[in-house]
Amino acid sequence: MNTSALHAQLPLTLRQVDLPALGQHYRGKVRDTYRQGDSLVLVTTDRLSAFDHVLTTIPFKGEVLNRLSSFWFERTKHICPNHVLDVPDANVTVARACQPFTVEVVIRGYLTGSLWRDYEKGTHTAYGLPFPAGMRKDEAFPSPIITPSTKAEYGQHDEPISEKEILARGLASTRDWARITEAARGLFAEGQKWARTRGLILVDTKYEFGKVGDDIYVIDEMHTPDSSRYWVADEYEARFAKGEDQRMLDKENIRQWLIRERGFSGHGTPPAIPDDVRVELATKYVAAFEQITGTSLTLEPGDVHARIERNLRQKGYLK
Ligand SMILES: Nc1ncnc2c1ncn2[C@@H]1O[C@H](COP(=O)(O)OP(=O)(O)O)[C@@H](O)[C@H]1O
Ligand SMILES: [Mg+2]
Repeated sequence: MNTSALHAQLPLTLRQVDLPALGQHYRGKVRDTYRQGDSLVLVTTDRLSAFDHVLTTIPFKGEVLNRLSSFWFERTKHICPNHVLDVPDANVTVARACQPFTVEVVIRGYLTGSLWRDYEKGTHTAYGLPFPAGMRKDEAFPSPIITPSTKAEYGQHDEPISEKEILARGLASTRDWARITEAARGLFAEGQKWARTRGLILVDTKYEFGKVGDDIYVIDEMHTPDSSRYWVADEYEARFAKGEDQRMLDKENIRQWLIRERGFSGHGTPPAIPDDVRVELATKYVAAFEQITGTSLTLEPGDVHARIERNLRQKGYLK
């Protein structure tokens, strides 16, 4: 899709869903969720969040994320069961309603981003993990490490938490935590393996898990650019050797734009995002989808909210 078509889509982006007849409503940073008995209707909107603030909307972002999650849930369902029941619209997943564990399960293959900054300062000890000494920025860990964080309220920052603390606070039982971390390692290995075939490195990601009865499901989203960091694989070694930043396929770009152009790193009122930046980000999300999945995406311009309403009515989710 060319940039003028993306500009035309700007006023038609999905900022929020207003369909009270869908059930009990919860609004997250990116998803609007409705509860229908044992199911959740999860609508991925076009909202862009960074530094735990909602900044603007990006054309087709919701569709790209929901399609990407569907792709990954399908590819990994033999490793860990997931919450997906149906995808009645490009932006919508109907999911098994689970009792969520209130821990974000972050798993990292490389020392980079906020963890690298902590490591440099010596403040990386909050996870209670032994780290090899003398590691360099963007170096691979001998095997992936899990650095969980608490799930914070809107506008609050997630806090690192150690395994010991997770168990002590009863956020998960010892048995469940063992099952969760095993699932996270399996899912991440599968994600990394596939990403490699697409010329990408899945650097790190965040999973959420939930429970129904005694069964554990992976919920929310999977391996999207919102929850994950991807690097371009064939440039990794040369850049690492020279100490250069890696080429990324993720929204660290908007974070850097905010810091560089607006001096915003999460404190105070977020700045307005110009339309050109919104359109450029849309092209990045679409390109990310195509590179990760190896399939092209045909996007239908138009009123996303109206289309969702039509599809949900047709498929019986909206009476
Ligand atoms: N299958 C599920 N069962 C219960 N809760 C879920 C499920 N899938 C996702 N959620 C929750 O729904 C919300 C999705 O909205 P989102 O915008 O991602 O929220 P957040 O601002 O917490 O990231 C999250 O709080 C997530 O934990
Ligand atoms: Mg989320």
